[in-house]
Formats: sequence, C-alpha cells, structure tokens
Amino acid sequence: MANISKNETNLTLVLGGTGKTGRRIVERLEAQGLPVRVGARSAALPFDWADSTTWAPVLQNVAAVYIAFYPDLAVPGAVDIIRAFVDQAVQSGVGHLVLLSGRGEPEAAQCERIVQESGIDWTVLRVSWFSENFSEAFLRDLVLDGVVALPAGAVQEPFISAEDIADAAVKVLTEPGYTGELYELTGPRLMTFAEAVGAIAQVTGREVAYVPISLEAFVAALTEQGIPADFVALIRYLFDKVLDGHNAYLTDGVQRILGREPQDFTEYAQKTAMSGAWN
Ligand SMILES: NC(=O)c1ccc[n+]([C@@H]2O[C@H](COP(=O)([O-])OP(=O)(O)OC[C@H]3O[C@@H](n4cnc5c(N)ncnc54)[C@H](OP(=O)(O)O)[C@@H]3O)[C@@H](O)[C@H]2O)c1
Repeated sequence: MANISKNETNLTLVLGGTGKTGRRIVERLEAQGLPVRVGARSAALPFDWADSTTWAPVLQNVAAVYIAFYPDLAVPGAVDIIRAFVDQAVQSGVGHLVLLSGRGEPEAAQCERIVQESGIDWTVLRVSWFSENFSEAFLRDLVLDGVVALPAGAVQEPFISAEDIADAAVKVLTEPGYTGELYELTGPRLMTFAEAVGAIAQVTGREVAYVPISLEAFVAALTEQGIPADFVALIRYLFDKVLDGHNAYLTDGVQRILGREPQDFTEYAQKTAMSGAWN
C-alpha cells in the first residue's frame, strides 16, 4: 500500500488509485521503487473530487499526476472540476499531467483541451471501453446472473484491457518522449457485446446469455433496482451517445507507446476466469 510519503518529493499522484486503471498503475510504479501517492477518498490522505479542500494537501511534493476522473468526464460539472483541479496542480508545481479520457465524448474533449492548455507537460490517453467493465464494474453482476441484457444492439467496440492502459500510463509517466501527445488506445479487435459475453461464457463454462433490450427498458430496469438517478443518466448517455457505432474503429496507441500488440478480449477473459473474479 502506498503511504502518505509526506517527506518524499517527486511523487506521482495516481487519482482513482484504487480503481480499475489506477490500482494497476500504483502497483507497477511501486514495483519500480518509485514514490507514489494514491488519490482516492479511501486513501491515507483522502482526495475527493467533490471537495476541493482535499486537493492541496494531496498535491504537495507531486511531480506528475495521472488523472482518472470519477465517474466520467462526460457528467455535468466535470469540465469545471477538471479546470479547477488543473489550475491547482499547476500552482502546486506539478510538471506533467496524464489524463485518462474517453473516445467520442465532446465533454471529455473539453477536458483534454484544459490539460493540453495547462502550460505544463501533458499526455492524453483516450481509450475505448475497458474489458474490466465485465469483471470489476456493473456488468459483473449481470455476468454472474447469467443474463447480460444491454441496449448495445449490434454495435462493435474494441474493448481494451486496463492492464494495457496501465502499462501505457506507466511508460508515459516514467520515460521521456511522450509529452505533448494524445494517444488513442483500443484493443486489437472490434467485437459486439454479444461476442464479448460469448467469450466469457466459453472460458468460464458458465451459462451467460447476451440479450439485446431497448434503451428505455434498460433505464427502467436500472431505476427499478434503485440505482441512483445520476448513475442511470450516465449509463444512458454511454449506451445512447458513445456506443452508437461512431467509435467502432481500431487505433494503434498501444503499439505506439508499448511497441507491442494490445491484449485480445479472449486473453483478458481467460486470465480473469483463472483469477476467480467470476466465481
Ligand atoms: N470504464 C471504462 O470503460 C472507461 C472507458 C473510457 C474512459 N473511462 C474513464 O475512466 C475514468 C475512470 O472510470 P472507471 O469507470 O474506470 O472508474 P475507476 O477508476 O475504477 O473508479 C474508481 C476509483 O475512483 C475513486 N473515486 C470514486 N469516487 C471518487 C471521488 N468522489 N473522488 C475521488 N476519487 C473517487 C475510487 O476510490 P474511492 O472510492 O476510495 O474514492 C477508485 O479509486 C472515467 O473518467 C471514465 O470516463 C472509462
């Protein structure tokens, strides 16, 4: 576990440092013996996007920040929060910002511009849907229920593993030559949600079915389950506006940063099944 490291300088602050990408980045930086600070509400020194008074202490002695905003750069208010945070990071003496961004979201593009115009070094990692949404986020419960009912139709998405995002983020955080660049990262294969669910069923031996449903039925089901309205609104936005087919293309960001191919969804599913995440 990363400690508060009050006396250390040149810290890398990993926001969302206990989440899907952040946790993996922290592990990799610590394995290299580099000084790291976890940024999260549950961290030793708490960081809360909703409480700007928590930001300054967490930014002390920080040289670089990995920014994984929660829940999504597309939610109302995110652009203002990112602007305020970037201002404070610059004032605190941070030298490099690495922003985790999403593809095809105008609000995320606004946040990218704020980071790009910060006046300090920046790198943008604009990524496709994470494979780990099926094992570390809300889709996991649907997999375990055996019925993944989603309003994704036949849309194709190049799912990317958080392992590849973490490898790429660590590289751009620790090695020269990646600043002033926006990298678009995807997995190696366009897949429908039905194919992704099929791959999980195959490697786990579980009966898991993909059922296409309408957006309205999906939203009604989430609301009935008591999911908070703002989260329902975000999920609705993602399936309606982001997963509408305009992101159905592959990019070479992983290859450009890491010099290797990204992990295929089947490899992710096999490794995840072996880890017991779907038991
Ligand atoms: N998931 C995807 O497929 C995907 C695709 C493209 C882009 N993205 C982008 O990736 C970012 C992260 O999304 P994610 O779904 O993968 O989430 P995540 O990083 O797994 O989110 C969880 C992390 O955020 C922290 N957190 C939650 N609420 C917080 C708050 N109020 N203040 C500070 N930290 C908070 C959590 O720690 P605590 O609970 O301890 O605070 C935890 O470390 C988003 O900006 C999203 O747009 C995601």
